[in-house]
Amino acid sequence: MLVTLKELVQVAYKSDYAIPAFNIHTYEDAVAIVKGAEEMRSPVILMASPSAIRHLGIRIAACIMNELAENAKVPVVSHLDHATDLDVIFKAMKAGFTSVMFDGSNLSFDENVEKTKLVVKVARAFGISVEAEIGRVGRSEEGEEATQILTEPDAAKKFFELTQVDALAVAVGTAHGMQKQEAQIDFERVQQIQSAADVPLVLHGSSGVPDEDLTKISKMNFGKINIGTVLKTVYVERIRKILQDQPQLKDQIKLLEEASKAVTEMVKHKISLLNSAGRA
Ligand code: G3H
Ligand code: ZN
Repeated sequence: MLVTLKELVQVAYKSDYAIPAFNIHTYEDAVAIVKGAEEMRSPVILMASPSAIRHLGIRIAACIMNELAENAKVPVVSHLDHATDLDVIFKAMKAGFTSVMFDGSNLSFDENVEKTKLVVKVARAFGISVEAEIGRVGRSEEGEEATQILTEPDAAKKFFELTQVDALAVAVGTAHGMQKQEAQIDFERVQQIQSAADVPLVLHGSSGVPDEDLTKISKMNFGKINIGTVLKTVYVERIRKILQDQPQLKDQIKLLEEASKAVTEMVKHKISLLNSAGRA
């Protein structure tokens, strides 16, 4: 069933579990993610990143996610991830997304507040949830510099008071695009942020978080845990293996359906770490 972000994270953030949010890039991986969530009876958030939007277009991304959500046996959110352009956000709202992230992490505090408030105002009119970011989660993909700005607890408090977003992404030591689980979470900072701002928190760059820290963080005030990179990695690795093992294979449906199993397996593993199994 198709639901909003707000209704899922409002319950999860004070509980001892968090909702998994997975990036989709194609129809096949979106199907594989929902399958994993259904098998674990976990609510799930499907996220279309800027690269997914470039690849699929806003309306096709919305169609894929909403169609899968409406037919799913578990609650599913269709979420626009890391949108920096208000035009894209409003088009996503029109296309049927039930949740949007306005990413103003490259803006000044005041400009981030101003634009986030506008998004919240419009989203409220349509019953759509809003996530925003304070501080900046960096990137650590090969060849790219990490430019993270850790979230200041006072800034998180003020930002939430001014914007009233449904979920707040914070920078506490993770980075996008990590291939190894080597992120060092600043748990003291997390404690300070959650004491300052009573809002469901969002962890980005969670592919790089060690397993035991993912479980620990899911018991804190995080309601949404974003995972992308590791799904791309296991999907492509499985495709490579299938092609090596079966050089005669000529059918791309068979190839992609078989490779998608790697995505489902990883989704189920992450769900078990986030303790969200059986919550649907
Ligand atoms: O917004 C998406 C996430 O932050 C994904 O991060 O690709 O490093 O897991 P990741
Ligand atoms: Zn992110």
